[in-house]
Amino acid sequence: MKITVTENEEKFYSEAASRIAEVIRKKPDAKIGLSTGRTTKGVHAALVQLWKESPFDCSGISIFGIDEITNMSRECRASCYYLLLHEVVEPLGIPMEHYIMPDPMAEDLEAECRWFEEAVMADGGPDFIFLGLGENGHLGFNQPGTPFGQRAWLSWMDDSLDERLRRENQIPDDVKMGGMTLGIRNLMNCGRLVMAANGSNKAEIAEKMIFGPVTEKLPASILQLHPDCEVILDPLAAEKTERKLTGKG
Ligand code: GLP
Repeated sequence: MKITVTENEEKFYSEAASRIAEVIRKKPDAKIGLSTGRTTKGVHAALVQLWKESPFDCSGISIFGIDEITNMSRECRASCYYLLLHEVVEPLGIPMEHYIMPDPMAEDLEAECRWFEEAVMADGGPDFIFLGLGENGHLGFNQPGTPFGQRAWLSWMDDSLDERLRRENQIPDDVKMGGMTLGIRNLMNCGRLVMAANGSNKAEIAEKMIFGPVTEKLPASILQLHPDCEVILDPLAAEKTERKLTGKG
Protein backbone atom coordinates (compact mmCIF):
# COMPACT_ATOMS: atom_id res chain seq x y z
CA MET A 1 0.00 0.00 0.00
CA LYS A 2 1.50 3.29 -1.05
CA ILE A 3 0.52 6.28 1.08
CA THR A 4 0.59 9.78 -0.40
CA VAL A 5 -0.10 12.76 1.84
CA THR A 6 -0.69 15.98 -0.07
CA GLU A 7 0.50 19.42 1.00
CA ASN A 8 -2.99 20.89 1.19
CA GLU A 9 -6.59 20.26 0.19
CA GLU A 10 -6.31 21.78 -3.27
CA LYS A 11 -3.36 19.55 -4.12
CA PHE A 12 -5.29 16.59 -2.76
CA TYR A 13 -7.92 17.01 -5.46
CA SER A 14 -5.49 17.68 -8.30
CA GLU A 15 -3.16 14.84 -7.29
CA ALA A 16 -6.04 12.38 -7.01
CA ALA A 17 -7.47 13.53 -10.35
CA SER A 18 -4.09 13.16 -12.02
CA ARG A 19 -4.16 9.42 -11.25
CA ILE A 20 -7.35 9.05 -13.32
CA ALA A 21 -5.99 11.28 -16.12
CA GLU A 22 -2.77 9.18 -16.26
CA VAL A 23 -4.79 6.03 -16.81
CA ILE A 24 -6.77 7.62 -19.67
CA ARG A 25 -3.62 9.02 -21.29
CA LYS A 26 -1.84 5.67 -21.14
CA LYS A 27 -4.79 3.56 -22.22
CA PRO A 28 -7.40 5.46 -24.25
CA ASP A 29 -9.78 2.45 -24.16
CA ALA A 30 -9.43 1.86 -20.40
CA LYS A 31 -12.36 0.66 -18.31
CA ILE A 32 -12.47 2.79 -15.19
CA GLY A 33 -14.52 2.48 -12.01
CA LEU A 34 -15.44 5.62 -10.08
CA SER A 35 -17.09 6.41 -6.76
CA THR A 36 -19.48 9.14 -5.73
CA GLY A 37 -19.58 11.28 -2.62
CA ARG A 38 -18.21 14.51 -1.20
CA THR A 39 -14.60 13.46 -1.74
CA THR A 40 -14.89 12.37 -5.33
CA LYS A 41 -17.02 15.36 -6.31
CA GLY A 42 -13.91 17.54 -5.87
CA VAL A 43 -11.70 14.94 -7.55
CA HIS A 44 -13.99 14.82 -10.58
CA ALA A 45 -14.05 18.63 -10.82
CA ALA A 46 -10.23 18.63 -10.74
CA LEU A 47 -10.21 15.94 -13.45
CA VAL A 48 -12.38 18.07 -15.72
CA GLN A 49 -10.06 21.02 -15.01
CA LEU A 50 -6.99 18.95 -15.98
CA TRP A 51 -8.76 17.91 -19.18
CA LYS A 52 -9.58 21.56 -20.01
CA GLU A 53 -5.97 22.62 -19.44
CA SER A 54 -4.47 19.77 -21.43
CA PRO A 55 -7.17 17.73 -23.22
CA PHE A 56 -6.99 13.96 -23.53
CA ASP A 57 -9.26 11.78 -25.64
CA CYS A 58 -12.09 10.21 -23.64
CA SER A 59 -14.11 8.84 -26.55
CA GLY A 60 -12.76 5.30 -26.11
CA ILE A 61 -12.86 4.89 -22.34
CA SER A 62 -15.64 3.18 -20.38
CA ILE A 63 -16.86 4.36 -17.01
CA PHE A 64 -18.83 2.58 -14.33
CA GLY A 65 -19.79 3.56 -10.82
CA ILE A 66 -18.87 0.99 -8.19
CA ASP A 67 -22.22 1.32 -6.45
CA GLU A 68 -25.73 2.73 -6.67
CA ILE A 69 -28.63 3.57 -4.37
CA THR A 70 -31.65 1.34 -4.88
CA ASN A 71 -35.21 2.57 -4.99
CA MET A 72 -34.06 5.93 -6.28
CA SER A 73 -34.72 7.21 -9.78
CA ARG A 74 -31.75 8.06 -11.98
CA GLU A 75 -33.16 11.59 -12.24
CA CYS A 76 -32.68 12.13 -8.51
CA ARG A 77 -29.63 14.29 -7.80
CA ALA A 78 -28.41 11.87 -5.14
CA SER A 79 -28.29 8.85 -7.46
CA CYS A 80 -24.80 7.72 -8.38
CA TYR A 81 -25.91 7.56 -12.01
CA TYR A 82 -26.89 11.24 -11.98
CA LEU A 83 -23.74 12.32 -10.16
CA LEU A 84 -21.26 10.52 -12.42
CA LEU A 85 -23.19 11.57 -15.52
CA HIS A 86 -22.95 15.24 -14.59
CA GLU A 87 -19.55 15.23 -12.88
CA VAL A 88 -17.62 13.09 -15.38
CA VAL A 89 -19.41 11.45 -18.33
CA GLU A 90 -20.96 14.55 -19.91
CA PRO A 91 -18.15 17.04 -19.16
CA LEU A 92 -15.50 14.71 -20.62
CA GLY A 93 -17.62 13.73 -23.63
CA ILE A 94 -17.65 10.02 -22.81
CA PRO A 95 -20.13 8.25 -25.13
CA MET A 96 -23.27 7.14 -23.28
CA GLU A 97 -22.88 3.60 -24.60
CA HIS A 98 -19.61 3.47 -22.63
CA TYR A 99 -21.35 4.36 -19.36
CA ILE A 100 -22.12 1.22 -17.34
CA MET A 101 -24.51 1.52 -14.39
CA PRO A 102 -27.06 -0.82 -12.81
CA ASP A 103 -30.72 0.18 -12.88
CA PRO A 104 -31.66 1.06 -9.27
CA MET A 105 -35.37 0.64 -10.04
CA ALA A 106 -35.07 -2.76 -11.75
CA GLU A 107 -37.84 -5.19 -10.89
CA ASP A 108 -35.35 -7.94 -10.08
CA LEU A 109 -32.48 -6.23 -8.28
CA GLU A 110 -30.61 -9.50 -7.67
CA ALA A 111 -30.58 -10.15 -11.42
CA GLU A 112 -29.48 -6.56 -11.96
CA CYS A 113 -26.47 -7.18 -9.67
CA ARG A 114 -25.48 -10.19 -11.79
CA TRP A 115 -25.87 -8.17 -15.01
CA PHE A 116 -23.82 -5.32 -13.56
CA GLU A 117 -21.01 -7.57 -12.39
CA GLU A 118 -20.83 -9.28 -15.79
CA ALA A 119 -20.80 -5.95 -17.63
CA VAL A 120 -17.99 -4.66 -15.40
CA MET A 121 -15.96 -7.87 -15.65
CA ALA A 122 -16.45 -8.31 -19.43
CA ASP A 123 -13.48 -7.84 -21.79
CA GLY A 124 -10.85 -8.41 -19.13
CA GLY A 125 -12.52 -6.37 -16.39
CA PRO A 126 -11.61 -2.92 -15.11
CA ASP A 127 -8.15 -1.42 -15.56
CA PHE A 128 -8.49 0.95 -12.64
CA ILE A 129 -10.88 1.74 -9.81
CA PHE A 130 -10.98 4.95 -7.82
CA LEU A 131 -12.40 4.51 -4.32
CA GLY A 132 -13.66 6.71 -1.52
CA LEU A 133 -13.61 5.77 2.15
CA GLY A 134 -16.82 5.52 4.15
CA GLU A 135 -16.74 7.09 7.61
CA ASN A 136 -17.36 3.61 9.02
CA GLY A 137 -14.75 2.04 6.74
CA HIS A 138 -17.12 0.92 4.01
CA LEU A 139 -15.95 0.32 0.45
CA GLY A 140 -18.68 1.03 -2.06
CA PHE A 141 -21.68 -0.13 -0.04
CA ASN A 142 -19.80 -3.04 1.47
CA GLN A 143 -20.54 -2.21 5.07
CA PRO A 144 -18.68 -3.50 8.15
CA GLY A 145 -19.19 -7.25 8.47
CA THR A 146 -19.33 -7.90 4.71
CA PRO A 147 -17.39 -11.07 3.83
CA PHE A 148 -14.20 -10.34 1.89
CA GLY A 149 -15.27 -12.93 -0.72
CA GLN A 150 -18.50 -11.04 -1.48
CA ARG A 151 -19.43 -10.42 -5.13
CA ALA A 152 -21.86 -7.78 -6.48
CA TRP A 153 -24.86 -7.68 -4.16
CA LEU A 154 -27.63 -5.74 -2.47
CA SER A 155 -26.26 -4.29 0.71
CA TRP A 156 -27.60 -1.62 3.01
CA MET A 157 -26.84 1.98 3.77
CA ASP A 158 -25.39 3.10 7.07
CA ASP A 159 -27.63 5.35 9.17
CA SER A 160 -25.48 8.46 8.93
CA LEU A 161 -25.38 8.38 5.12
CA ASP A 162 -29.09 7.58 4.96
CA GLU A 163 -29.84 10.54 7.20
CA ARG A 164 -27.56 12.91 5.23
CA LEU A 165 -28.97 11.91 1.85
CA ARG A 166 -32.53 12.41 3.07
CA ARG A 167 -31.71 15.80 4.50
CA GLU A 168 -29.77 17.06 1.49
CA ASN A 169 -32.20 15.73 -1.13
CA GLN A 170 -35.58 15.96 0.63
CA ILE A 171 -36.13 12.21 0.29
CA PRO A 172 -39.32 11.21 2.16
CA ASP A 173 -39.15 8.72 5.07
CA ASP A 174 -41.28 6.14 3.27
CA VAL A 175 -38.71 5.72 0.48
CA LYS A 176 -36.49 2.88 1.64
CA MET A 177 -33.01 3.27 0.17
CA GLY A 178 -30.51 0.46 -0.10
CA GLY A 179 -27.07 -0.06 -1.56
CA MET A 180 -26.31 -1.99 -4.71
CA THR A 181 -22.58 -2.52 -4.98
CA LEU A 182 -19.73 -4.40 -6.51
CA GLY A 183 -18.47 -6.79 -3.87
CA ILE A 184 -15.11 -6.67 -2.16
CA ARG A 185 -13.89 -9.58 -4.26
CA ASN A 186 -14.75 -7.67 -7.48
CA LEU A 187 -12.90 -4.58 -6.26
CA MET A 188 -9.83 -6.55 -5.17
CA ASN A 189 -9.69 -8.28 -8.58
CA CYS A 190 -8.93 -4.98 -10.28
CA GLY A 191 -5.22 -4.57 -11.14
CA ARG A 192 -4.87 -1.02 -9.83
CA LEU A 193 -6.75 0.80 -7.09
CA VAL A 194 -6.51 4.33 -5.78
CA MET A 195 -8.40 5.39 -2.68
CA ALA A 196 -8.77 9.01 -1.61
CA ALA A 197 -9.89 10.40 1.74
CA ASN A 198 -9.94 13.95 3.02
CA GLY A 199 -11.11 15.87 6.06
CA SER A 200 -10.71 15.27 9.78
CA ASN A 201 -13.79 13.02 9.85
CA LYS A 202 -11.69 10.41 7.98
CA ALA A 203 -8.52 10.68 10.12
CA GLU A 204 -9.31 7.90 12.56
CA ILE A 205 -10.74 5.42 10.06
CA ALA A 206 -7.86 6.07 7.61
CA GLU A 207 -5.31 5.25 10.31
CA LYS A 208 -7.16 2.05 11.21
CA MET A 209 -7.47 1.05 7.55
CA ILE A 210 -3.73 1.51 6.99
CA PHE A 211 -2.23 0.25 10.25
CA GLY A 212 -4.95 -1.82 11.88
CA PRO A 213 -5.67 -5.50 11.42
CA VAL A 214 -7.16 -6.66 8.13
CA THR A 215 -10.67 -7.45 9.25
CA GLU A 216 -14.15 -7.72 7.83
CA LYS A 217 -15.19 -5.31 10.60
CA LEU A 218 -13.40 -2.64 8.56
CA PRO A 219 -13.93 -3.48 4.87
CA ALA A 220 -11.34 -0.99 3.56
CA SER A 221 -8.59 -2.72 5.58
CA ILE A 222 -8.50 -5.39 2.84
CA LEU A 223 -6.69 -2.85 0.67
CA GLN A 224 -3.53 -3.58 2.71
CA LEU A 225 -3.43 -6.88 0.81
CA HIS A 226 -3.80 -5.44 -2.69
CA PRO A 227 -0.57 -5.52 -4.73
CA ASP A 228 -1.08 -2.11 -6.38
CA CYS A 229 -3.08 0.22 -4.18
CA GLU A 230 -2.34 3.85 -3.38
CA VAL A 231 -4.08 5.83 -0.66
CA ILE A 232 -4.11 9.59 -1.12
CA LEU A 233 -4.84 11.66 1.98
CA ASP A 234 -5.10 15.39 2.60
CA PRO A 235 -3.35 16.75 5.72
CA LEU A 236 -6.52 16.55 7.86
CA ALA A 237 -7.32 12.94 6.98
CA ALA A 238 -3.63 12.08 7.42
CA GLU A 239 -3.37 13.51 10.91
CA LYS A 240 -3.21 10.19 12.75
CA THR A 241 -1.58 8.25 9.90
CA GLU A 242 1.31 10.69 9.51
CA ARG A 243 2.23 10.45 13.17
CA LYS A 244 2.74 6.74 12.68
CA LEU A 245 4.53 7.12 9.35
CA THR A 246 7.01 9.55 10.90
CA GLY A 247 7.27 7.53 14.11
CA LYS A 248 5.86 10.35 16.25
CA GLY A 249 2.73 8.70 17.47
C1 GLP B 1 -20.50 6.58 -0.08
C2 GLP B 1 -20.31 5.65 -1.28
C3 GLP B 1 -18.88 5.24 -1.40
C4 GLP B 1 -18.04 6.48 -1.15
C5 GLP B 1 -18.08 6.81 0.32
C6 GLP B 1 -17.40 8.12 0.71
O1 GLP B 1 -21.45 6.06 0.72
N1 GLP B 1 -21.15 4.50 -1.23
O2 GLP B 1 -18.63 4.69 -2.66
O3 GLP B 1 -16.73 6.25 -1.54
O4 GLP B 1 -19.39 6.73 0.80
O5 GLP B 1 -18.24 9.23 0.59
P1 GLP B 1 -17.82 10.70 1.06
O6 GLP B 1 -16.66 11.09 0.21
O7 GLP B 1 -19.01 11.54 0.83
O8 GLP B 1 -17.43 10.62 2.51
